[in-house]
Amino acid sequence: MDASLISPPPPVTFTTKDLRAALGQFATGVAIVTARGEDGHPIGLTINSFASVSLDPPLVLWSLDNRSGNLAAFNAASHHAIHILGTAQRPLAELFATRGVDRFADLAWQPGLGGAPLLAGCAAVFECRQHTRHPGGDHLLYLLEVLHCHSRKDLPPLIFHGGRFVAP
Ligand SMILES: Cc1cc2nc3c(=O)[nH]c(=O)nc-3n(C[C@H](O)[C@H](O)[C@H](O)COP(=O)(O)O)c2cc1C
Repeated sequence: MDASLISPPPPVTFTTKDLRAALGQFATGVAIVTARGEDGHPIGLTINSFASVSLDPPLVLWSLDNRSGNLAAFNAASHHAIHILGTAQRPLAELFATRGVDRFADLAWQPGLGGAPLLAGCAAVFECRQHTRHPGGDHLLYLLEVLHCHSRKDLPPLIFHGGRFVAP
């Protein structure tokens, strides 16, 4: 190959701190994604990587840190349930972002499609079937097909901005 066609990588002009600060200016909602673990136990974590992708077919995505201990379990789970949290559910968001605790210990939940746990009192819920997985640097992207969804207009969504939850 002609060596003149291979351009050197552009110099990195920002630090990880710069990147975090810039990304933090994108205000997001907050969600909890759940699934039935390989041993039948419920698994779940707080995310803000949720995004809408397509209306027809109905597709959404979220991404998981490659270092997550639940990576294999989410890969194996046929269904994921995405819960969009309301302003009153900030303690739940904090619980599901905390390591070393049983996140479902004091929680009422019901199995939904594919056994994915369904949490009550959320602003919206999407019950999804796993569509495809895509590597994305230090995260893994899950593209999901929405099979069922419902929402409550009376519950305003919890917002995350600048690395913290926005007080309602
Ligand atoms: C607002 C918020 C958003 C988050 N978004 C994500 C996310 O999109 N993907 C991710 O892998 N972790 C995300 N995290 C971090 C996880 O919730 C946290 O690391 C959790 O302990 C991971 O669970 P695990 O140990 O079961 O993997 C987020 C945390 C917070 C507080």
